[in-house]
Amino acid sequence: MYDDNVTLTGIKKEIDVARQGEVLYHQNLTSASRKFYIESYGCAMNFSDSEIVASILAEDGFGPTRIMEEADLILVNTCSIREKAEDTVRNRLRVFNALKLKKPDMMIGVLGCMAERLKAKLLEQEKLVDIVVGPDAYRDLPNLLAKVDDGEKGINVLLSREETYSDISPLRLDSNGIVGFISIMRGCDNMCSFCVVPFTRGRERSRDAYSIVAEATDLFQRGFREVTLLGQNVDSYKWTNPDTQEHVNFAQLLERVAQVHPDLRVRFSTSHPKDITNEVLHTMSSHENICKYIHLPVQSGNSRILDLMNRTYDREWYMERVEAIYKIIPDCAISSDIICGFCTETEEEHRETISMIQWAKYSMSYMFFYSERPGTPAAKKLKDDIPEDIKKRRLQEVVDTQMKISQQVNKADIGKTFKVLIEGNSKRSDQEFKGRNSQNKMINFPKQEGLKAGEYTWVKVTDATSGSLRGEIVEK
Ligand code: SAH
Ligand code: SF4
Ligand code: F3S
Repeated sequence: MYDDNVTLTGIKKEIDVARQGEVLYHQNLTSASRKFYIESYGCAMNFSDSEIVASILAEDGFGPTRIMEEADLILVNTCSIREKAEDTVRNRLRVFNALKLKKPDMMIGVLGCMAERLKAKLLEQEKLVDIVVGPDAYRDLPNLLAKVDDGEKGINVLLSREETYSDISPLRLDSNGIVGFISIMRGCDNMCSFCVVPFTRGRERSRDAYSIVAEATDLFQRGFREVTLLGQNVDSYKWTNPDTQEHVNFAQLLERVAQVHPDLRVRFSTSHPKDITNEVLHTMSSHENICKYIHLPVQSGNSRILDLMNRTYDREWYMERVEAIYKIIPDCAISSDIICGFCTETEEEHRETISMIQWAKYSMSYMFFYSERPGTPAAKKLKDDIPEDIKKRRLQEVVDTQMKISQQVNKADIGKTFKVLIEGNSKRSDQEFKGRNSQNKMINFPKQEGLKAGEYTWVKVTDATSGSLRGEIVEK
């Protein structure tokens, strides 16, 4: 879910971005009178929000463009999770500002978590920004844009306890038409001490279960074959029907979405180790189309650090949850998020994180070094006392360990046959398809006539690296 500075391949990306420069685009809307260009950073929820924003703007007469220079409105949907994420956005704003100097009528808007964190300060610091809109205020965009047309600045960073945008049909503008994301909740009520999300996204609230199932059904009817249910902590999803008082928890929601159609794969992210229940695991094991993959961020393998992080579980609790997963769903893959060099972490405690990677056999991890965020409980109460060179060395050790484990678990797939959803041509060749198995591993394999993207096929794995599998189509 988080394409960030370090991933399982150990490749350090210079920028804290997910799919930098991806823009929303839709042919039917290019005739609109004014055009917007949007870039999204951060987690999948932000990308999903950009599709809601696109829908709101379309209603307001704005059509999307992929060409920044022809836009009347440039939007950047921002992330505050680490300092680097914010630096990236500031650099992009410099590029947009240079354009605006040549085209003074062009509007620039900052959306998302950085807008929420910095509020009016952002307008002071970034003089050429016209609007600042927080994650719960996107419905106000037309109104704010009208203000800018009248020569004012527009700002709305009110957080809401109710907003879920459940009635807005997102415009899937940059999608391959096969895999789609559905937001099932917003905000976060956990207070992990390092994390800015509760401050930028507000209180946790769950979306109407019927609107979620309706969205999944609509996507399936339009040819989509995979949906990922999104939330910061999906296991705490809970919705009560105001008319009937019927309660729906995450396991029940998962089941309802799985019942949309057996050919619609269901994934979800992110699970919290303190909240993932056996009920969810049993629901997963009893539906073939619920993918056998759980992103279960551990953050640290040491109980004292986990306590300082306020993760509300310890090493033993986490290990018990991993054992339950492998027992109830033996073919499940697990991945993780890891923070290296959190406040006061010792070498010995760091080694417990390394041993956790080896023990849990993560198929992959997103790995970061700790970045203190202003206003968070850790920033207020703890000293960011691990020098950067040590943080980076520990991160490298964690990355190296994960690489080895990824390679090991992927090599163990050689000889196995998996059902794969074809997503399109492989990166390397148009003679090859790429697609994922249920465990979320990418497999590349030679094409076969008669098959196309969006269809399922069976692939036998013939080779593996730490990052992907190779295989060939077989009869099943
Ligand atoms: N809701 C998810 C995580 C959301 S943020 C969960 O609870 O697991 C994505 C990841 O960014 C986190 O899992 C954590 O590993 C990392 N992260 C968050 N704050 C960070 C910080 N201040 N410094 C470094 N990494 C951080
Ligand atoms: Fe942040 Fe913790 Fe909430 Fe995840 S669960 S978004 S890490 S506060
Ligand atoms: Fe970033 Fe906000 Fe997501 S801080 S990780 S975009 S919730």
